[in-house]
Amino acid sequence: MNTLLDEIVIILQRGGIADATAEATRIVQTAQTSTPADHARAARAMAERRAAGAPLAYVIGHAMFMGVELIVAEGALAPREETELLGNTALAAIRSCGSAAPRVIDMCCGSGNLACAIAHHLPAARVWASDLTDGCIAVTRRNVEHVGVSDRVVVAQGDLFGGLAGFGLEGTIDAIVCNPPYISQGKLATDRAVLLDHEPREAFDGGPYGLSIQQRVVKEALPFLRPGGILLFEIGLGQERQVKMLFDRAKAYEDIRLVANAAGEVRVVSGRKSAEM
Ligand SMILES: C[S@@+](CC[C@H](N)C(=O)[O-])C[C@H]1O[C@@H](n2cnc3c(N)ncnc32)[C@H](O)[C@@H]1O
Repeated sequence: MNTLLDEIVIILQRGGIADATAEATRIVQTAQTSTPADHARAARAMAERRAAGAPLAYVIGHAMFMGVELIVAEGALAPREETELLGNTALAAIRSCGSAAPRVIDMCCGSGNLACAIAHHLPAARVWASDLTDGCIAVTRRNVEHVGVSDRVVVAQGDLFGGLAGFGLEGTIDAIVCNPPYISQGKLATDRAVLLDHEPREAFDGGPYGLSIQQRVVKEALPFLRPGGILLFEIGLGQERQVKMLFDRAKAYEDIRLVANAAGEVRVVSGRKSAEM
């Protein structure tokens, strides 16, 4: 006999979803919880969206990031597992900086995943999360409430650090995390164009070389960092040489580190603001 789960697996398999059984299980569970009266119809609708290419997190409306459950909604990038490398590297750096009440900025916060996870794992930390778009600000605000960190996470909106002017943060920040848009416009127009089918362009478009935001953040972060404060980026595959060069050229950072994932790929670059600055 065909169960609802079997039916959902078939819809996903037709859409080319690799791990159809695991995803179908999550879709059915979500439908049962969110729409108990008509869960079969809700599950079929979710499966059709997923089969058409929408990220699973958008379809079921939530995702786990660094052990924290987050709301995921259109308008903000669905948090990626790969970004946990940036979050965990930042946590280790902040823990070892010796500050009793660390002050952290999540620049380009998207859904607020890094801000919420850092605040959750570091109960004494204060975090300022900022993004350009209305969609990201709305999702971040929901997540700050959902994770229960609204007393320690401030959400701001603007073009990079413009959103944080007037908060009196200058010279006080221990760590800035930034997962910027880092895909070149050429790639977004060709082999990576599929990314734009479901998620916002602002999440991916890193200008002509994929480095436009990093170039600005390396300079604009300096007035906010305290001497010895750290700036950490997630980077695209193969960008480590150029991003390290941006840190070097600023002539204001030391201890520049390249951090690789389990596959040996460098996906995080960090640097500390020099003490003399
Ligand atoms: C790759 S997404 C990262 C989102 C989130 N931090 C994460 O890890 O999933 C990049 C984010 O940068 C934001 N962004 C792009 N340009 C920006 C700018 N000039 N100022 C502030 N945020 C910007 C986008 O809206 C998007 O949310």
